[in-house]
Amino acid sequence: MSEFLIGSYPWFKAIHIIAVMSWMAGLLYLPRLFVYHVEVELNSIEDHRFQVMERRLLRAIMNPAMVVSYIFGILLILTPGIVDWSSGWIWLKILAILVLTGCHHAMGKWRKDLAEGTNRKSQRYFRVANEVPTISMIIIVIMVVVKPF
Ligand code: HEM
Repeated sequence: MSEFLIGSYPWFKAIHIIAVMSWMAGLLYLPRLFVYHVEVELNSIEDHRFQVMERRLLRAIMNPAMVVSYIFGILLILTPGIVDWSSGWIWLKILAILVLTGCHHAMGKWRKDLAEGTNRKSQRYFRVANEVPTISMIIIVIMVVVKPF
């Protein structure tokens, strides 16, 4: 098993990076769609168009991309010699991943509220919410590439 993981390391890392790029694309774009969606009239053509775009982005791209990111990230963790648990970067990365996962689930709830016409959140709220995945992503990339501590 260890040999298989070590041999597959570059491939698993490539798949991991492709998956996190797709996941991040959704985490950064979906709140932007919410910002524009709250402006349109309930049950209008635009309302329905935004609902379709948001549902497809979440279900067809973000959900599978998150699962693949986790699967290959965990395989990288299990690869011998890759993670030194005494260094700080991996813990901060894990914390930022938990924040991203929380954002993902919150966005799923906001999408549902917008689809059911029960959303009470403002455009400003979604603009601010958009910054959380951005900051988390910056932290993660610095942690995995620079490994400052
Ligand atoms: C979903 C849970 C995740 C787990 C369990 C995980 C775990 C890992 C592990 C163990 C590595 C190998 C580190 C190394 O080779 O030194 C890695 C690499 C990487 N991860 Fe993640 N990761 C996750 C999510 C993310 C996310 C959300 C991002 C981006 C926002 C990300 C970006 C990267 C990058 C860019 C690398 C390559 C670093 C390099 O070797 O230069 N990961 N990940």
